Amino acid sequence: MVGGEYVEKQETVLQGVFLNKRFAGVHAVQDVSIELQKGEILGLVGENGAGKSTLLKLLVCEHEKDSGEIYFKGEQVHWSDSYEALMGKVGLIHQRPSLVPDLTAAQNIFLGKEVTHRGMLSDTQICKDAKKLLEAYPINPDFDLSMPVHRMTAGQREVTEILRVLSYEPEVLILDEPTASLTKEESIQLMRILRRLNRENGLSIIHISHRMEEVFDFCTRILVLRNGKRIGTVDKDHFDKKKIIHMIINRDLNEFFPPKEGRTGETLLQVNDVTSEQLDHVTIDLKAGEIVGLYGLSGAGMTDLVETVFGIKRFKSGEVIIRGESFSTIHPTHIIKKHVFLVPEDRDTKGLFTKFSVKDNLMIAHLSSLLPKGLIRRKKESEIARNGVKRFAIKCSGLNQEIRSLSGGNQQKVVIAKWLMEDCDVLMLDDPTAGVDVGTKREVYLILRELTKAGKGVVLVSSDILEIIGMSDRVYTMRDGAISAEIPKPEITQANILEHVL
Ligand SMILES: Nc1ncnc2c1ncn2[C@@H]1O[C@H](COP(=O)(O)OP(=O)(O)O)[C@@H](O)[C@H]1O
Ligand SMILES: [Mg+2]
Repeated sequence: MVGGEYVEKQETVLQGVFLNKRFAGVHAVQDVSIELQKGEILGLVGENGAGKSTLLKLLVCEHEKDSGEIYFKGEQVHWSDSYEALMGKVGLIHQRPSLVPDLTAAQNIFLGKEVTHRGMLSDTQICKDAKKLLEAYPINPDFDLSMPVHRMTAGQREVTEILRVLSYEPEVLILDEPTASLTKEESIQLMRILRRLNRENGLSIIHISHRMEEVFDFCTRILVLRNGKRIGTVDKDHFDKKKIIHMIINRDLNEFFPPKEGRTGETLLQVNDVTSEQLDHVTIDLKAGEIVGLYGLSGAGMTDLVETVFGIKRFKSGEVIIRGESFSTIHPTHIIKKHVFLVPEDRDTKGLFTKFSVKDNLMIAHLSSLLPKGLIRRKKESEIARNGVKRFAIKCSGLNQEIRSLSGGNQQKVVIAKWLMEDCDVLMLDDPTAGVDVGTKREVYLILRELTKAGKGVVLVSSDILEIIGMSDRVYTMRDGAISAEIPKPEITQANILEHVL
């Protein structure tokens, strides 16, 4: 056993050979072969639209393949649909599960299984069995199994789907971005459960995720798809972020980030000797036209700093100066009027009102400009929201779609778009690209550079050191709530940064 994972020598459990699938005009999967060894956890990565979901659906015969062959435990299979695959012990957990809206979680889990040798399962029996299932796979121990699907969030639907598929005790489990809609705690629990099944039962897993750290941590091998083609595989011993990003986007990392700005203008923001419960005599400044990166180990004070400047957290001494105007206390509503904005860290709980629609969310930051006469004019509202959706290429079915049903990348674009539609001078972003795919990351970077070209200033907090290096014109490092170094552009290297954060 290596690193706690179940490893048995090279026994292919599921295999796709030269698979092809075309949709009208799109060759979504092109001659892709994929082999999953018994006990292996294979990560499948690629940009949005690379063909990952389609490939997985071909493997469980949910899509009919144009050509190619599928083998399970050495024998060619011809399942007629994904239900047959599931009965055959290969389960796909969908990105957007299709559950029956009017039935409860428990009923959906046991749908199709009600008929036993003893006749129909009673509803009490279903509830009992579902409860047992949740106890065996405690993704979220408080999960309400009696809630009808139509009242569920995307995350609750995902939990239902996971339990449903696990109830068949599959030998191969295929997961299509399961963690995108789950909470952090649920994701951690899911990983724990899957690891246990892998270790104890030799469950073989194919896992899609945009979270590179999650894939590195969880998977034993990675398969990269690009434009519907298999680019290659990388074993755990050779996992390397730069290399895999290169395989995903076919570009070098320095081309991945837009060119930096040469010129800066007036000082937009100064933090002068600010001390609070979390911050220790912090002094920084931000000029028009630059991106200033804040980097440190988690908990070193970067989030505290931007939240303090935005007025979410109080400070005891020192001052914040915005275009020459000094503040010793700050309230968010006040600071927004000074055109300073924050895209917060956890977009689920702070940045987005997840129950509201795309339009509501785009409007919230904009209310001030609509409200002078005490009225929100419906027509103007729609017009502004429509512009936002267009400008940032937000993929939604309509302005009234619920935010939480959008993909993570599109949710993030809604948050950023929300603030950019206001006239901002200073935009602070707290880990804006955590958990979004590389394609969306690049779009976010381009937007930020557009902002600086227009004379705005950006404060970028990121847990990704490559993003800090690639995007920052200047870097402040932090340690224990204090600024430990200021690094000018020519000296921004990984070594220089790490020296001051560790
Ligand atoms: N049902 C479908 N009808 C038409 N085109 C589709 C369908 N499903 C996927 N596609 C197209 O196939 C390509 C691959 O999509 P997909 O497999 O969903 O990618 P990924 O999961 O990697 O984001 C995309 O160009 C997508 O638009
Ligand atoms: Mg997909």
